[in-house]
Amino acid sequence: MKTFGCQMNVYDSERMSEALAAEGYVETSEPAEADLAILNTCHIREKAAEKVYSDLGRLRDIKRERARDGKETLITVAGCVAQAEGDEIVRRAPVVDLVLGPQSYHRLPELLARMRRGETSIVETAFPDEDKFQALPDRRPPRAVSAFLTVQEGCDKFCTFCVVPYTRGMEYSRPVAALVAEARRLVERGVREITLLGQNVNGYHGDGPDGAPTALAGLIRHLAEIEGLSRIRYTTSHPRDMSDDLIQAHRDEEKLMPYLHLPFQAGADRVLAAMNRKHTAGEYLDLIGRIREARPDIALSTDIIVGFPGESDADFEETLKLVEEARFAHAFSFKYSPRPGTPAATMDEQVPEDVKRERLARLQDTIDAGYRRFNGQFVGQTLPVLLEKTGRYEGQLVGRSPYLQLVHADADPARVGEIVEVEIRSAGANSLSGVICGSA
Ligand code: SAH
Ligand code: SF4
Ligand code: F3S
Repeated sequence: MKTFGCQMNVYDSERMSEALAAEGYVETSEPAEADLAILNTCHIREKAAEKVYSDLGRLRDIKRERARDGKETLITVAGCVAQAEGDEIVRRAPVVDLVLGPQSYHRLPELLARMRRGETSIVETAFPDEDKFQALPDRRPPRAVSAFLTVQEGCDKFCTFCVVPYTRGMEYSRPVAALVAEARRLVERGVREITLLGQNVNGYHGDGPDGAPTALAGLIRHLAEIEGLSRIRYTTSHPRDMSDDLIQAHRDEEKLMPYLHLPFQAGADRVLAAMNRKHTAGEYLDLIGRIREARPDIALSTDIIVGFPGESDADFEETLKLVEEARFAHAFSFKYSPRPGTPAATMDEQVPEDVKRERLARLQDTIDAGYRRFNGQFVGQTLPVLLEKTGRYEGQLVGRSPYLQLVHADADPARVGEIVEVEIRSAGANSLSGVICGSA
């Protein structure tokens, strides 16, 4: 199993592995040993989508070599490239046995049986009515103290640059009761932190226990009642769906971590309008002002695109200005990549590659300076850190602060899963390190 793209794919890969474990499969990191290879793919930018075909080239060679030893190799392309390209994949790469869209993962065992009977070039990309998550087997023990939980899928926002509404379909929210039950099982097995996932997670509106529609803040309140669950996070949010209720949850709900990923994409209003983002730069700044009023220490992160069609130098300066004003703790930045089937791909005034590259470099310098400023303020302070795993050096553990910073500290590996107080001694661009001074 090889996973590309966002955390939702990570979650889906775990659930597929679980379904396959029930069929007797075990995971391997060695492609030459695999009887079944699954590429769980991402279509968001051209580079991500093209990686799939180079991997398929390698798998074709492996399949040939294994066939010489009398071994069968089944090859599956899952995820968003599967959904977006469908038949085109088997045409371009006939070695593929199964193309499996993200809404059909629960059918994997049945499709596997068909492949074993010799069927090839199966393409399964419909959006079925049944809930794939309910149809997937119960979750096996997690490997980590922090786990993902997909609560919402799909997106109805149709930003003009983005493939997600086409690859993941319309918005769908899982019911509260199913999510609470899944979260309880995770916590029983040692998970202490859960990150709620959705392409548009703050648009969540699942059926509540009483049948009434429940928003994300309500879901968070239900989950916060689970004893043993210490930390709740959620990602990714759209500025338009950041309700007052959710902002207040950041003030009132102790288990909800002070971190928010809130993409703004571009700083100039005319670019935002062409992107169909449904917010202006001023509205975005006003929104984060209200969020900081409710939770002054909250760490904000964002996504930014440079070189959207028609973006001028002056427009780009607006993006830099917004980054300075918003004081982000973290940011992901991308060169605009035209995606087939999206409105922006055929807009006039596509920005030349060298201009995009130059803007991205300038933006990343500004973002990096922000990381250092954000992390630097914690030196000398004490932070509660959830210890997640062993670090690169002997005797070292790595965990996360409430603000999602990586924190290194020396500790016994038996302490993984504990929340400890760490006095921060030094800060880099990407992590903090310190000394454990107590239990939280
Ligand atoms: N649902 C999330 C994530 C969408 S994809 C959201 O709404 O933010 C993650 C990020 O990829 C987006 O926020 C955007 O910054 C970037 N992205 C999406 N389409 C892109 C494209 N065509 N070119 C470059 N970056 C893109
Ligand atoms: Fe894509 Fe926009 Fe939906 Fe995010 S909100 S998934 S960027 S269409
Ligand atoms: Fe990529 Fe699909 Fe996620 S396109 S970013 S894997 S929703």
